[in-house]
Amino acid sequence: MFLSLELITATLLCLAIAVAAELPLFQHPPKPDGSLSVLVVGDWGRKGTHNQSEVALQMGITGEKLETDFIISTGDNFYDDGLIGIDDIQFDESFTNIYTAPSLQKQWYAVLGNHDYRGDVLAQLNPVLNKRDSRWLCHRSFIVDAEIVQFFFVDTTPFSDKYFDTPEEHTYDWRGVLPRENYLSNLLKDLDSALKESSAKWKIVVGHHTIRSGGSHGNTVELVARLLPILEANSVDFYINGHDHCLEHISSHDSPLQFFTSGGGSKAWKREFHWVNPKDMHFYYDGQGFMNLHITSTDAEFKFYDITGNLLHKWSASKPLYSAI
Ligand SMILES: *[C@@H]1O[C@H](CO)[C@@H](O)[C@H](O)[C@H]1NC(C)=O
Repeated sequence: MFLSLELITATLLCLAIAVAAELPLFQHPPKPDGSLSVLVVGDWGRKGTHNQSEVALQMGITGEKLETDFIISTGDNFYDDGLIGIDDIQFDESFTNIYTAPSLQKQWYAVLGNHDYRGDVLAQLNPVLNKRDSRWLCHRSFIVDAEIVQFFFVDTTPFSDKYFDTPEEHTYDWRGVLPRENYLSNLLKDLDSALKESSAKWKIVVGHHTIRSGGSHGNTVELVARLLPILEANSVDFYINGHDHCLEHISSHDSPLQFFTSGGGSKAWKREFHWVNPKDMHFYYDGQGFMNLHITSTDAEFKFYDITGNLLHKWSASKPLYSAI
């Protein structure tokens, strides 16, 4: 009797863990013509200052032209210290009252950045925010399935040693992350199996931190060591991030994987750089702006814009139809 009860409890516990270990998945079908247009902005929530409002205005104009389906936020959603709670007025001041254009009244998919972890991290993940502004969707790690393409959003902040090694600098809200190594290994395992199971034509991974970058933060060594091999092993096409407050496109010399930074949502012009092989560095802009991705089952086109709506850089890739499953 005692033993079987224990067994049942253990089985239930295993089931609960198995379910909890899966990445939440959201369906977002493409347009009827099979295409999808996505705006990408990062490092933005500053109550409109540092050109945040100007970026928002141009996103609205560009979004109208390019018929935006949804918006991706690469994190650092609220400066300097995330949200203080689910009632924080900064949610209105930095999000709802800033991205007001009709074309931006679409679903937003957001990851957390390191600054978001400095506040009440659970507040940004709380479904109550979705009642305050129905566009808002933020999870730590999750999948958006748009049929032709799957986006794998990854919570990158807990990978970085420095947030744990120098606790005197800032307070981080690690609820839900500790024990850290458990969290990281489960996340990588879940990502790896989700990527392996994916039959999408394009696979795109989105995180806050850089893998490769020529900006002030440069490469994130922990992601190069632990995340990059999984992306390469699973033929991920693109990695999209923020963290460095710039716009940038870097290619790999040894794989087709491309790195896109869209972290120009507000404060920029850092004028601090890390060396990247010029052969790999396709584009770097130190100022504010955003990125657009237009994708079909055969073509992916990336465009970067500054705050005046100037097209700064354009790059595209194609996949032959026959490789579609
Ligand atoms: C706003 O953008 C303009 C044009 O790029 C730039 O000259 C200016 O320095 C920016 N302001 C701030 C506060 O970054």
